Amino acid sequence: MRSYLVLLCVVAAASQPICNHPPSAWCSSWEIAKECQVEKQCLEFYSNQDLKKSSEPAIQIDLYYESLCGGCRGFLIRQLFPTWLMLAEIINVTLVPYGNAQETNISGQWVFQCQHGPEECQGNMMEACLIHIIGDIYKYFPILFCMESSHNVTKSLESCLGVYAPEVAVKTVLECVNGDLGNKLMHQNAQSTEGLNPPHQYVPWIVIDGMHTDELQAQAQSSLFNLVCSRYKGPKPDPCLNSETIPLKRDFLCLN
Ligand SMILES: *[C@@H]1O[C@H](CO)[C@@H](O)[C@H](O)[C@H]1NC(C)=O
Ligand SMILES: *[C@@H]1O[C@H](CO)[C@@H](O)[C@H](O)[C@H]1NC(C)=O
Ligand SMILES: *[C@@H]1O[C@H](CO)[C@@H](O)[C@H](O)[C@H]1NC(C)=O
Repeated sequence: MRSYLVLLCVVAAASQPICNHPPSAWCSSWEIAKECQVEKQCLEFYSNQDLKKSSEPAIQIDLYYESLCGGCRGFLIRQLFPTWLMLAEIINVTLVPYGNAQETNISGQWVFQCQHGPEECQGNMMEACLIHIIGDIYKYFPILFCMESSHNVTKSLESCLGVYAPEVAVKTVLECVNGDLGNKLMHQNAQSTEGLNPPHQYVPWIVIDGMHTDELQAQAQSSLFNLVCSRYKGPKPDPCLNSETIPLKRDFLCLN
């Protein structure tokens, strides 16, 4: 891992302005990557890492959330995304934007109502469409992270897409959002959210390896990174051994 990092940083050093961190630390956290303007290189670095040759299954993390809920945004930005970046080789993330929304069948067409209003439905739909159209989590997760950490989630679609997937046209995403495909994708998210057992009572609703308990939820919210490292049965990846933890803060929940 380290040799790849050095190589990456040497390549990047030739063309990038200086920042206040040594090249060996540039991909150690997303904040530093951003400060040093090497986010793209770090993502390529992470996605090209050979998966650890372990027969242990990855930790499955399913996040049921809605696009404008403050607690969801906090968890996604401060816990899930950074943990996934550092431990992608042992984590399998599924993102399900829908949350506390509701759907009604109005003459054969699904109509959605969202907790934080129509703009939230729009944000959920954009994110469901990005996940479906792009398919590769290494490409779509940074876009969702970028949107959720922006001041205006829906308005940032175009600029976030421009940075992380310029080859995907905004028009393609909006056609999905406003068409039958988006409607179908959101209905699927509604069904998987409504099929949760136990049923979700708030969002973010976190499911670890197919299970939701109060204890797992609390552990994930206080430090997902520690939870994943301690839960994984195979050889621990480097970041787990370096005992770096991601700073923790309990975010509020959006009750159903
Ligand atoms: C990740 O999760 C998805 C959805 O549950 C599943 O289809 C896929 O096989 C999993 N991938 C790995 C590598 O475990
Ligand atoms: C939705 O409503 C239409 C008629 O309004 C009905 O034909 C269809 O079966 C309904 N679909 C579901 C999944 O309930
Ligand atoms: C986000 O921007 C849109 C315009 O693109 C605007 O209609 C909406 O009110 C803004 N939302 C917030 C929360 O500021």
